[in-house]
Amino acid sequence: MSKITIAIDGFSSTGKSTVAKQIANHLGYVYVDSGAMYRAVTFYAMQNGFIKENYFNAEALVANLKNITISFKFNPQLGFAEVYLNNRNVENEIRTLEVSNFVSKVAEISEVRQKLVEQQQHLGKQGGVVMDGRDIGTVVFPHAELKLFMTASSETRAKRRYSELIARGETVTYEAVLKNVQERDYIDTNREDSPLAKAEDAIEIDNSHMGLQEQFDKIMQLVKVTLKKQV
Ligand code: DC
Repeated sequence: MSKITIAIDGFSSTGKSTVAKQIANHLGYVYVDSGAMYRAVTFYAMQNGFIKENYFNAEALVANLKNITISFKFNPQLGFAEVYLNNRNVENEIRTLEVSNFVSKVAEISEVRQKLVEQQQHLGKQGGVVMDGRDIGTVVFPHAELKLFMTASSETRAKRRYSELIARGETVTYEAVLKNVQERDYIDTNREDSPLAKAEDAIEIDNSHMGLQEQFDKIMQLVKVTLKKQV
């Protein structure tokens, strides 16, 4: 059976990566978290002093893009590929609220997008990939056989992200997380280069009131219909 490309876009904390991992594991496809790549570049900028509180030297970051190598290595215990920055596992470090606070600014930079989109297209060129992000169905894989667009209210999303951060031992308030979610929504949808948008042929899924199993079943149903159309 031919392998398809599944593009999952949507606002932050809509549970894209959770369902994308489930679907990829179920189908034996590769899962690529494109947001992790933007986060890794942001983490690099923070580590190299290009980003500090209220300071962002975008030119220095652009000049150093050639020194950034991002890769993924499958971790069989976790069941997904973890992200590596210059051969160092940064899966945990890129998930902090500090990185979240800067990542949308980094993702606005065209040179950063160009580099990462190129790598994403390379990772998915054989098909058999589930990739989640903001511009996967519109820019990275405009010909993806199945495109999904995930939404949920900002309060629902902030509650989910807050619980995740608390479970990981971070000291954050719900209000700070909600503010971050709303700010990122604004920047992601209003930036000039590849803003977050629903592709015309994407199927919208609002999961504000949907359990994980229900969501998985719904998407698998769509996958089956799409696969049938391929033969
Ligand atoms: O999915 P995430 O929250 O980990 O993504 C982090 C940020 O990266 C998000 O605020 C916007 C940016 N991003 C992007 O611009 N394009 C993508 N394909 C994926 C993420």
